[in-house]
Formats: sequence, C-alpha cells, structure tokens
Amino acid sequence: MSAMLEELNSIESQALASLKVIADADSLEQWRLAWIGPKGRLKGLLGSMKDVSPADRPAVGKRLNEVKVALDGAFEERKGSLGAARPQATGPMLDVTEPGLDLTIGRRHVLTRTIDELIEVFARMGFTVATGPEVEDEYHNFTALNIPPDHPARDPLDNFFLDGKHLLRTQTSTVQIRAMEQSRPPLRIVSCGRVYRPDEVDATHSFMFHQIEGLYVDRNVSMVDLKTTLLQFAHAYFGAQAEVKLTPSFFPFTEPSAEMHIRMNVRGQWRWVELGGCGMVDPNVFEAVGYDPEEWSGFAFGLGIERIAMRKYGIPDIRWLFENDLRFLTSV
Ligand code: DAH
Repeated sequence: MSAMLEELNSIESQALASLKVIADADSLEQWRLAWIGPKGRLKGLLGSMKDVSPADRPAVGKRLNEVKVALDGAFEERKGSLGAARPQATGPMLDVTEPGLDLTIGRRHVLTRTIDELIEVFARMGFTVATGPEVEDEYHNFTALNIPPDHPARDPLDNFFLDGKHLLRTQTSTVQIRAMEQSRPPLRIVSCGRVYRPDEVDATHSFMFHQIEGLYVDRNVSMVDLKTTLLQFAHAYFGAQAEVKLTPSFFPFTEPSAEMHIRMNVRGQWRWVELGGCGMVDPNVFEAVGYDPEEWSGFAFGLGIERIAMRKYGIPDIRWLFENDLRFLTSV
C-alpha cells in the first residue's frame, strides 16, 4: 500500500477519535481547522498528490475523497449534537415572569357526582353497594319481582328485548333479586345504574336513565323504618327542612306500596317532588329468593337519579345530561 494511503487511514482514525471527545464549540472549531480547514491536515495531503505515482493516483484520489466526506459528515453531526445540547442563545432563554399556561381541569359528570353523593348518604346508614347486569333475563326483571306473565309491563313494545328471554333491564329492582340470591339476610344494599325503556325522548324522558335502588331486609322491619330511612336521606341530601310524604300506590314487588314525595328547595322555592316508589317487600319476592317470609321482612325503594340531579341543579332538559356539550358540563 502506498505511503499516502497509510497516511490517509491514520488521519481518518485520529481525526474521528479526537472528534469523539470534543464537548464544546471552541474545541470543535479547532478540530475543524486542524483536520478539514483550508490549512488542515487533509488539505496538506492534496499538495502531496503530485508525488504519487500515476498508477496509484486514482486509488489515492478516491480514498482522499472518502476521508474528506467522512470527516465533513462527522463534523456536521458533532456540530448538530453540540448545538442541541447547548443552544447558543443570544437573549434570555427563559422569561420567568411569563404567565403560566391556563390548564383546564376536568370534572366528574353531574350524574356521577350525584350517584357518589347518594351512595355516600346511604353508606353512612349502613347500606353497602350492590351491582347487577344491564342485560337481564325475564326472570330477574319480572318473574322474581312478582310481575305476572300477562302484566302490561312485559309488553314487548315497552321493553328493549334482545331475544325472547333477555332484555335491557327496565328497573334496578332486578338487583334486589340478585343481592338476595347471593346472600342470606339481614341485608342492607343500594344499587345505582342505568335502566332502559323505549320512551319517546323529550325534555323529561329518555330511553336510558339511572335509578338508585334500596333494599333492607331484617326481622320486624316496618313502614316506620322505611319512612325514617327516607327522611334521614332527605335531610342529609336536601337539608334539614326537607320533608317526606308517602302516598298509596301499587308495585307488584311491594305490599303495601307507596309513591315517595320529598319537599325540597327547587331554586329557592320549597316544593313537593315525586322521586320514585317504595314499599314493604312482597312475601312472594322473598319466596322467589328462598327467604322465609314468616321470618324476614323488609322495605325497598327505587328513585330516579336524573330527577334528583335535575331538581337539585336546576337542569331543565334531561337530554343535556347525555349530549356531552361542554357548555353544559362545565356549568354544573
Ligand atoms: N322499580 C320501580 C320503577 O322503576 C321503582 C320502585 C318502586 C322500586 C317500588 C322499588 C319499590 O324498590 O319498592 O318504577
């Protein structure tokens, strides 16, 4: 190998090795002058080309070019990485007086908040939280709740049937059955969740809404326990001036049954609002889950959560709760 080729190899390896340890712009500039600048080692070799024999000249020329490209490339790369590590700022780099970014903080949906608050109130009275499926069978949605086969509530036009036997539950009362099937009395549960009915959608109706269901089973439970529990709830949730009124009604799964009205403050005015149904658990329901109705007694209630939230927060249209319009969601 000609002496020139050897020299080129050695320039290349030395230059690259010394470039590796360079850590600042000044040393980099010195490296550039020493190796690839107009008076650098590489340029110096050019002058010696005339001494290379014509036979070796093409190979040496080619190699000279390769080394030049390699060193130029390595230089640019180093310059880039040094620049990235230490930006050559001319003015102040950080204005510590600049106002910070205004972060938008999310919040829980008003229905989620209402559900959490309701659970909180009942948890303080010793109720635990139970859950059940939204896709139910006819047995849990109707039969076990003492709803006879020919009852109008089973009409296919009033239900979202998925197949002959399954439907989207129309009430959270289904969870009463599931909770009793899974444990022995005494029992104290609440359950919140979605229910579905093919209602025409308008300001007060939706094909999907939420209910809170309560069930209390023990020995010697009476209507007094039911009303006291509802009153405690009303006081805790709507304030000490809230009142509860029960009016006669009918539900297949309670006997006697009542509608529950609460006198609450609706935007400054005390008004009676009907919130749902309640009653003493029907003996047939206890029998369906294998509880002895001679030994056990209980009360149950089911309230519409949208209705509670809409009254409490003054929301005039139920659709607002499901449209996810930020103008609404950030205002409640
Ligand atoms: N499930 C009833 C409905 O959707 C509400 C209800 C009434 C629930 C009476 C109960 C109850 O637990 O005892 O209209």
